[in-house]
Amino acid sequence: MPGDDRALLRFLTCGSVDDGKSTLIGRLLADTHRIPDDQLAALERDSQRHGTVGAAVDYALLVDGLEAERQQGITIDVAYRFFATARRSFIVADTPGHQQYTRNMATGASNSELAVLLVDARKGLLPQTRRHAYICALLGIRDVVLAVNKLDLVGWDQAVFAGIVAGFTAFAEGLGFRHVQAIPLAARHGDNITRASANMPWYSGPTLLAHLEQVEVDTGAAALPFRFPVQWVNRPDADFRGFSGTVASGAVAVGDALVVAASGRASVVRRIVTADGDLARAEAGDAVTLCLADEVDIARGDLLCPPQHRPAVTDQFAAHLLWMDTDALLPGRQYLLRSGTQWTTATVTRLKHKVNVETLAQEAATKVELNEIALCNLSTLQPLPLEPYATNHATGAFILVDRFSHATVAAGMVDFSLRRAANIAREDFPVDQAARARLLGQQPLVLWFTGLSGSGKSTIAKALEQRLHAAGQLTYALDGDNLRHGLNRDLGFRDADRVENIRRVGEVAKLFVDAGLVVLCSFISPFRAERQMVRELFPAGGFVEIHVDTTLAECIRRDPKGLYAKAQRGEIRNFTGLDSPYEAPENPEVVLHTAGRSPALVVAELLEQLQARGHFTSVPR
Ligand code: ADX
Repeated sequence: MPGDDRALLRFLTCGSVDDGKSTLIGRLLADTHRIPDDQLAALERDSQRHGTVGAAVDYALLVDGLEAERQQGITIDVAYRFFATARRSFIVADTPGHQQYTRNMATGASNSELAVLLVDARKGLLPQTRRHAYICALLGIRDVVLAVNKLDLVGWDQAVFAGIVAGFTAFAEGLGFRHVQAIPLAARHGDNITRASANMPWYSGPTLLAHLEQVEVDTGAAALPFRFPVQWVNRPDADFRGFSGTVASGAVAVGDALVVAASGRASVVRRIVTADGDLARAEAGDAVTLCLADEVDIARGDLLCPPQHRPAVTDQFAAHLLWMDTDALLPGRQYLLRSGTQWTTATVTRLKHKVNVETLAQEAATKVELNEIALCNLSTLQPLPLEPYATNHATGAFILVDRFSHATVAAGMVDFSLRRAANIAREDFPVDQAARARLLGQQPLVLWFTGLSGSGKSTIAKALEQRLHAAGQLTYALDGDNLRHGLNRDLGFRDADRVENIRRVGEVAKLFVDAGLVVLCSFISPFRAERQMVRELFPAGGFVEIHVDTTLAECIRRDPKGLYAKAQRGEIRNFTGLDSPYEAPENPEVVLHTAGRSPALVVAELLEQLQARGHFTSVPR
């Protein structure tokens, strides 16, 4: 709570509702007097009506009641509750354990210093417990309470408790926790929550609350090197220029030397401005505006840091991804990446392995599904100042966002930057695309035909190419079937293969355009994301998307290669339009309808449309 200077502990609780999580949190809140008297009276009434504990107060009802209120807010999936004792104040993040649990856990755990892992003594360690423990470890939590609940229902049996503790200790060995405190509980009756249990004389450790009050956790961020992601450039008038943001780690004082991580441009802190006046010093968590002594080129998204502690700036790195979307992660697909205040696009270039969070085994995979965790290599469009997550959470954490839905699809933790990135530069050649295009006397261009198999893409591309060629244009045709005999012979028709297919085709088309050619590409290219990715490889106007819009029924009727018939007999799987999706373009430059019209007619219409856009104006119709 603001102004409260008792040390604050942020922790999260993990476990399913059945494990007694609500009861446990309710107990903590009630026993530390966080519940107003009127609410407590209502609770006593409700407990008698709906409770499951006879005449006693059912603390779960309290939390579940808050839950219902909270759920009306819809978007917040993590509930933060505040309580305090004479020794410490606490913020507890309660993360619901439903289907999207990784998302909630990632949110809760990234803001927490300690995790309370709940286990039902009757059920022992569940796969869920192991998953939660792994995610906590991945997100950098070093202190854990193994809260073994419902000891009353196993006859207060010490052996049951000891068995669960031994199992967890063995599992957690590789997770790097600094301290695991196991506590036997009966949350419903209050045993070992805030007062020592008379039912378990064999346990001599602290109660849950006593442990939470005295556990020492890292102060963390303040001790690390200074990191300041610039949120925005504050320039209200010509006299003032400051860089606003929140100190992500470390501290800064007036007079300190700083550099921009990416460019290396240097200056000195002249003022630290806040809404309540200037400061001499600011540290992790403070929202400030920094004014520098020099006019340095700094933009939103830049990271300011000390010259002697500059993070590596890299566009290729290895990271663990926690996948949170119902659509699987596909290597080769582009996502938006946010690190600090910077956004760029990123691709998973290699899926090294998935982690089986129940056994910690590394498993080979071609995609990553909801709630799964994988180690990947990523590549970004712009280089980013990144550090291993284990070194600094502020510069080691990132999220991936879907380009179309804008949903957060993954939380990422950087493992290390790939050295390769630093060792590969770009070589510029004096004979460039413009020189070649001049020599050829033409404007390089990509004509991208997309549509179902049998829609007529190749037929139209062939006819158009003949027209262009006859008119003196140097062209090249890239075609799905043809490339799959060579460059792409290793690829099949699963989603991940199609993503990689189009990624490669895009790169090849880019080379041919660089060579000065008009490139005709005919690929089903069923996914919007990859068509968009290819589009962005070219300048505005340099990529023309042509949707050959032939209905599935018509394609099946034509079936030029007999493939639909085979697919319908079950001889081919993942066939586009049948058991693999086709995402029609939303805003293609050209839409062609082919049913009942001759190819010559369709090509004439296409040429007309291209000419209306300013292309091939010298080609006779
Ligand atoms: S894409 O989806 O990755 O863009 P691409 O255009 O390269 O596909 O290849 C499609 C061609 O492969 C089709 O025209 C058809 O001849 C053949 N093919 C074989 N199996 C399939 C399948 N399962 N789905 C679609 N096309 C297939």
